[in-house]
Amino acid sequence: MTVPTHVAIIMDGNGRWAAQRGWARIKGHKAGVQAVERILEAASDEGIQHLSLYAFSTENWKRPPAEVAALMALLRMYLRMFVHQLARKGIRFQHLGDLRGMPGGIQADIKTLEEATAGNTGMTFHLAVNYGSRLELAQAARRCVEDGLRPDQVDEAAFGDRLWTAGVPDVDLLIRTSGEHRISNFLLWQSAYAELYMTDILWPDFGPAALKEALEDYAQRERRFGGI
Ligand code: IPE
Ligand code: IPE
Ligand code: MG
Repeated sequence: MTVPTHVAIIMDGNGRWAAQRGWARIKGHKAGVQAVERILEAASDEGIQHLSLYAFSTENWKRPPAEVAALMALLRMYLRMFVHQLARKGIRFQHLGDLRGMPGGIQADIKTLEEATAGNTGMTFHLAVNYGSRLELAQAARRCVEDGLRPDQVDEAAFGDRLWTAGVPDVDLLIRTSGEHRISNFLLWQSAYAELYMTDILWPDFGPAALKEALEDYAQRERRFGGI
């Protein structure tokens, strides 16, 4: 079976999962973190080399302050707990997004986890927090100017090197849970030729079996990249 090198997941549906049970949305986010732990193990066992998970977008700051604060607190807690799981599986952690736009404590926790796992040689886990593709593209354009590139030096490679994903292979498989059929500003450049897989499963219910199903579906796809 052809295993995708880079799988990206838009983890959606935590709020609806909680609402279905008459619970507060944050309970859905807590269950969502448990799903992250399960999928990290499963993806690593499947031989995936890069896993990008969309946890918080640049647009998610529009949510009620109490939900944003609860999400940030949850994130901090797990950034500290993940280290054991990551060490056990040899997983390297890398943040994806605008670090400077985040509360100082989280910035420090992210850097600590990146440093603690830098020597791991297994799968790379890219956690997208305060991530937005348009912001990433705009800042890559700005960096081309700051680096003094001449217009003829601004090509796809030079531009790609200035994205937060510099050096990371393109997305092969893009999964979105919760039945929504949209990209919501995630990895637009990197997913140019990604295979799309949408499922109605809400993120907290997405487990190893659901991942396997997505991978089996991917393995059946014929990728052409514009050729014949
Ligand atoms: C995804 O779940 C997690 C985040 C965007 C933080 P949602 O919170 O978007 O859940 P729904 O879409 O409201 O069900
Ligand atoms: C996308 O989910 C962002 C994350 C999963 C972090 P949203 O719930 O924010 O997306 P929309 O608003 O439904 O497009
Ligand atoms: Mg949502």
